[in-house]
Amino acid sequence: QQSDRDRLYALMNYAKDYYKESLTTSEEGQSIGLSYFRERGFHDRTLEKFELGYSLNEWDHLSKKAMGIGYTDDLLEKAGLIVKKEGGRFYDRFRGRVIFPVHNLSGKVIAFGARILTKEKDQPKYINSPETEIYHKSNVLYGMFQAKNAIRREDFCYIVEGYTDVISMHQADVDNVVASSGTAFTEEQIKLIRRFTENVTVLFDGDAAGIKAALRGIDLVLKGGLNVRVVLLPDGDDPDSYSKKMGSTEFKQYLKSHSKDFISFKIDLLASESVHDPIKKAEAIREIVTSISLIPDPIKRSVYIQETGQLLKMQESVLLTELNKILIGER
Ligand code: UTP
Ligand code: MN
Ligand code: MN
Ligand code: MN
Ligand code: MN
Repeated sequence: QQSDRDRLYALMNYAKDYYKESLTTSEEGQSIGLSYFRERGFHDRTLEKFELGYSLNEWDHLSKKAMGIGYTDDLLEKAGLIVKKEGGRFYDRFRGRVIFPVHNLSGKVIAFGARILTKEKDQPKYINSPETEIYHKSNVLYGMFQAKNAIRREDFCYIVEGYTDVISMHQADVDNVVASSGTAFTEEQIKLIRRFTENVTVLFDGDAAGIKAALRGIDLVLKGGLNVRVVLLPDGDDPDSYSKKMGSTEFKQYLKSHSKDFISFKIDLLASESVHDPIKKAEAIREIVTSISLIPDPIKRSVYIQETGQLLKMQESVLLTELNKILIGER
């Protein structure tokens, strides 16, 4: 007796194969989808590794085929592959888009991201699967299946924003990378990383918005007990665009030479903003100590306090007093 979950996995696998086949064997898939991936520089090996696909620009091509071999519209809806309208009518959720399957840890497809190929103002760039019985977005990191062995081997994990960042980094020969998919980190995602390593390096683009977003997300990662490093990319670039601009060797070199411990990064950033302003400087110090207070390991906390004291030319005892206030909840 097949369970609901088994049926969902089977249908998602069927849909994945269908999208892959559409990409490589249909006229529309080749001329639109495949040429799009080629223009972005994705090799055939990469398309295969990430099982990329294409959804034809028709209302019900997938659902008709799936129902033709016995999948029900109820199951298609539960899988998030169709959208139902009033009166029982429905249509395929993904149409005329390139498809990025999302895999679970054992490599089964549990969701899809689908990117539009043209620039249409009223359409979102990506459409994603909704939450289903087998897909809980907050528990998943895109690329973990393809990255997990490399993460164990390297004992750290790069974190990027998007699907194409993960894929391009693999092409640049950096396999230990996962994507948060444009949303804030969750505790479940941090636990997932902890199964493979305690060390993460967050990549973000160097404009003000990118830095702000990254700083916000990182507090939770610190709290989760992970050691955090950051790499700032040049303003306007993401890992996909920058790795292609630089080429594999130089990109890897850049990552190495620009990787900074998160606390030192924050000190540099805040200190540079507040050099000649004592009030600002005091605020900056409090913010840094607050970040340090989130680290669960007391030994690491004290190492960071020492380092902060040296970098900011502050007495350690002052920082410690502040830290202890925060820790016992006076602030
Ligand atoms: P970005 O807008 O940075 O896209 O969103 P990208 O990954 O660089 O994609 P390309 O290079 O333009 O193709 C980052 C991530 O946020 C999520 C996706 O996971 C995306 O990869 N996102 C973004 C959505 O889910 N929906 C959107 O409409 C936009
Ligand atoms: Mn569940
Ligand atoms: Mn930006
Ligand atoms: Mn991006
Ligand atoms: Mn991009």
